[in-house]
Amino acid sequence: NIMAFYDIQSIAASIYGLQASHYIKQGKIVAFPTETVYGLGANVYNETAISTIYHVKSRPIDNPLIIHLWSLNQLNEVASTLTTQAQILIKHFFPGPLTIIVRKHPRIPNTASRGLNTIGVRMPKHKTAHKFLQLTGVPIAAPSANISGSPSATRYQDVLNDFKGKIPFILKGNQSEYGIESTVVDCSDINTPPTILRHGSVSEEELKAICSDIISTKINSKNKTVRSPGQKYKHYSPLAKVILLPRPPASLQTNEAFIGVSYFTSKTLPTIMICKNVTEYAHNVFAFFRICDSLNIITIYCQIVEPVGIGRALMERLVKAAG
Ligand code: TXA
Ligand code: MG
Repeated sequence: NIMAFYDIQSIAASIYGLQASHYIKQGKIVAFPTETVYGLGANVYNETAISTIYHVKSRPIDNPLIIHLWSLNQLNEVASTLTTQAQILIKHFFPGPLTIIVRKHPRIPNTASRGLNTIGVRMPKHKTAHKFLQLTGVPIAAPSANISGSPSATRYQDVLNDFKGKIPFILKGNQSEYGIESTVVDCSDINTPPTILRHGSVSEEELKAICSDIISTKINSKNKTVRSPGQKYKHYSPLAKVILLPRPPASLQTNEAFIGVSYFTSKTLPTIMICKNVTEYAHNVFAFFRICDSLNIITIYCQIVEPVGIGRALMERLVKAAG
C-alpha cells in the first residue's frame, strides 16, 4: 500500500528529525541526508559547534561552510542583500541542489564564513533534510559529511564509516539521489555576472536557460585568485589509485575495478559497475570508490564521459580524484 509507505517515511522523518534537532539545540553536530550528498550540520550561531565540524572533518580552516535553510523567509536572516540574478536563481532552483553565494548578514558569525563577507546558501529538497531543518528553526551550517579529501558520503554507512564515535547522531536516509554536490554560483557582486565556482547537480545548461549571462570560473582563470576556497584542495580521493580512460580496459586484475557506462562482460562483480547513463554514474561514483577501498582494490579505472550536463560535474570530480 503506497499511502502507508509514504506515511511511515514521513513519520520516521519527523521522529528522527526531532531527535537530530535536539542535538543541534544542545550545541552538538549531526549528519543528515540531502539529495546531493550527506551533510554535517551545526547551528550557524554556535561557534563552538562550528569549530567542532572543522575538527572532526580535519577541514582546512579557510574553507567556509554552506548555510542550509528550509524556508525562503530565512534568506533575510542570513543575507544582507540579494542581487536580481540571485533572486531569479532562487526562484527557479530553490529548493534543490544549487548553492548561491550572497553577501552575508552581519549577524552571521565569521566562524561560519571564515572571514569572508559572503556566504553560501542552499535549500535542500530532500524531505528528511527539510523536516530536520524546519524542526531546528535555525540556519544550519554544513559541509559534506566526509573526512576532508575523501569521497563525499552518499550513503548512511559511509557517514558511519567516517564519523562513528565522533558525532552523536546520524539522521538516516537512502542513498543520495544525485550523488555529487550542489552547484555553487557566486551572485554576491552586482558588477560581475553570476559565476559558477563549482559544477554540480544543477547543470550549466539548466542554469543558462534561466540566466543567460552566467559564466564559469574556467573562462576567467587567468585571474589566479581562488574565489571558492574549497576548489584548491585535493578532493574526492579514494585510497585506490584512480585512472581515467576513454574506453573500458581490455581486462581487469582481481585487485582492479571499473566504473563507467559501457563494458562487456559476463561477470558480475562488486568491482565492476556499468551504469545505464551518466546520471546513474554520478549517483554511484562516490559509493563505488568507498566500496573499492573496503575491498582493498588498488586501481579504479573510471570511464571518461562527455563534459555536458551532469557529465561536466562528474568529470570535474573524476579529474580531481585522479589527481
Ligand atoms: O551539495 C552540497 O553542497 C553539500 C550538501 C551537504 O549541501 N555540501 C557541500 O559542502 O558540498 P562543502 O563544504 O563540501 O562544499 C562547499 C563548497 C566549498 O568548495 C566552499 O569553498 C564553497 O562551497 N563555498 C562556501 N562558502 C563560500 C563562499 N562564501 N565563497 C565562495 N565559495 C564558498
Ligand atoms: Mg565537501
